[in-house]
Amino acid sequence: MFKSFYKLSIDERLKYIEEMRKISKESALLLKNSGGLKLEIADRMIENVIGAVHLPLGIATNFRINGKDFVVPMAIEEASVVAAASKAAKLTLPEGFTAKADEPVMMGHVQLTNIKNVGHALAELEKNRNDIIKIARENSKIMEQYGGGFREVRFKELKNARSGTIIAEFDIDVRDAMGANTVNTVLEQVAPTLSEITGGKTRLRIISNLAVKRKVHAKAVWKKDAIGEDGVEGVLDGYDFAKNDPFRCATHNKGIMNGIDAVALATGNDWRAIEAGIHSYAAINGYHPVTKYGRDSNGNLIGEIEIPLPVATVGGAVNTLPTAKTSLEILGVKSSKELGMVMACVGLANNFAALYALSTTGIQQGHMKLHSRNIAVIAGANGTEEVDYVSEKLTESRNFSVDFAKEILKEMRDKSG
Ligand code: MEV
Repeated sequence: MFKSFYKLSIDERLKYIEEMRKISKESALLLKNSGGLKLEIADRMIENVIGAVHLPLGIATNFRINGKDFVVPMAIEEASVVAAASKAAKLTLPEGFTAKADEPVMMGHVQLTNIKNVGHALAELEKNRNDIIKIARENSKIMEQYGGGFREVRFKELKNARSGTIIAEFDIDVRDAMGANTVNTVLEQVAPTLSEITGGKTRLRIISNLAVKRKVHAKAVWKKDAIGEDGVEGVLDGYDFAKNDPFRCATHNKGIMNGIDAVALATGNDWRAIEAGIHSYAAINGYHPVTKYGRDSNGNLIGEIEIPLPVATVGGAVNTLPTAKTSLEILGVKSSKELGMVMACVGLANNFAALYALSTTGIQQGHMKLHSRNIAVIAGANGTEEVDYVSEKLTESRNFSVDFAKEILKEMRDKSG
């Protein structure tokens, strides 16, 4: 575990990561060059490329999950998120988090419309179930060699549809991939047979981002001794607010996504799929917080998170983006399940940190401290001494204008002659 990682210089942090995580020379160099994505690579990833966008990559420390220590790369433009995750994780030590993940099963569906007799078509699908499964198996064979592959198929009528419509749902264990490619291939290959059997018109064939079969559950205890009785009560009050008011709940869940998206971005994962999955999961049975809080028998705070997490450690941008490979190297996760567990713990940590800060001291103090360093630089402060001095004075006076920062800087320089 790192002691005061934030106090190190960038070079010292890099050295720590290189030595502690034993990352490759290429990865170390890539980090030093701030992850520069070559335009030839970018051009192979999307269309009409004209450049690349950079985000800061930070490291969240203190994450002990199921007894294993992690340092977690987070890519994010927002100040305080990395610090908040690290601080919340530190407060769970020495026990840390416990987490578990479902098998990586993704569901995809085929829509068949304009069916004259839905009851009869459903019966025909059941009769031909084995042939349908055979096609699904053949097209997901690649996953079988890793222990995954086809798992289940279900047929259902789509209620209230414009015409007689059947949805065929396929469950595929996609192992360490996100799964969209495999699942969508199965769906497109099996759809003509489904159409033939039902007489229906093939419409949509696509994976579902509501990955309820690929959930992660994580838990941590924040001791009363560490956060105080008022801290425990504050988090419980904050949770109560989110449970009972969707306007607060949206922001509660947004704070969780701060952490999850940042790890997703660092590791090249599809954060839009993750966002869609988690928010639709939160909306099942009425929009609700995806974390929950209570007390254990000793009065300590227990926090839990349960979310679908379709994440990958292989395939897609995970393989193409150089920083994604480096981030996975730093994390040292062995599977998509383990990556999901890390992400869920970071989400829970960020949520706890937000509730703890918001219900007690507020978050502006921390935000403004970092903001003040930016103001100092904009005002022309050079080097650590000047930046620290100006930022301290701005924070003390609670005046964060650039003009005031310029005045402080001038005074400082005049004094030192
Ligand atoms: C800001 O990015 C996230 C928070 O608003 C989350 C929350 O309110 O719980 C601080």
